[in-house]
Amino acid sequence: MKRRRWALCALLALLLGCLPGRETASPAANPVELPAESRFVALTFDDGPRRDTTARLLDGLRERGASATFFLVGQQIAGNEDLLRRMRDEGHQVGNHSWSHADLKSESDGGFQQEIGRTDALLRETLGEGDYWLRPPYGFLTAHQRQLLTVPAVKWSVDPEDWKLRNTEKDVAAVLQGVQPGDIILMHDTIPATVDAALRIVDALQAEGYTFVTVEELLALSGVEAQPGVFYCSVAAVEG
Ligand code: NI
Repeated sequence: MKRRRWALCALLALLLGCLPGRETASPAANPVELPAESRFVALTFDDGPRRDTTARLLDGLRERGASATFFLVGQQIAGNEDLLRRMRDEGHQVGNHSWSHADLKSESDGGFQQEIGRTDALLRETLGEGDYWLRPPYGFLTAHQRQLLTVPAVKWSVDPEDWKLRNTEKDVAAVLQGVQPGDIILMHDTIPATVDAALRIVDALQAEGYTFVTVEELLALSGVEAQPGVFYCSVAAVEG
């Protein structure tokens, strides 16, 4: 974990051209070579936390030094605060997936603000102040609701439909067949088969030189400045 963090920081510094002592440490004629692990990808997990499956996923991600992003349903947080603190302490990004997994596009302004606001308040209370990015359930927001947002919104570019397949082999195949650097992968940490699939996906892609980062890190590493109310599907695809 620490080693991967350090590598990520070093790479960021390289990209920004400010690695300390760099000009004296290497001959000027040598071009800067990015390490093989400059293929970044973001795993995202919706609908948790769920005590057994989320804890097992966190264990597996920690063993592999992989970071992920968790979009949480507010009403499932009570009693799972320790899992949220683990997410934060182990380098993951935590985001908002509404209070009750409501289809937000059919909510009134008041209902929308409550669905987002209650979860945001509980995240702040549990983890401290911060920007808790939004993934709306089903990926839907109206144009008007997007304008009300004070944080970036996140969709996805790879969807194995793990909630429908509920089959580890098929989940793994569905992700590996189309994944590319810069992708945001959508999965659900509430499903036991998904936990196994996600860890196998990490193993397979790490062997190909991929590094698993949070959505926020993925965008920052690509020079994308995330804006409130904009939907990010991958580093290359933006809506709104
Ligand atoms: Ni969901």
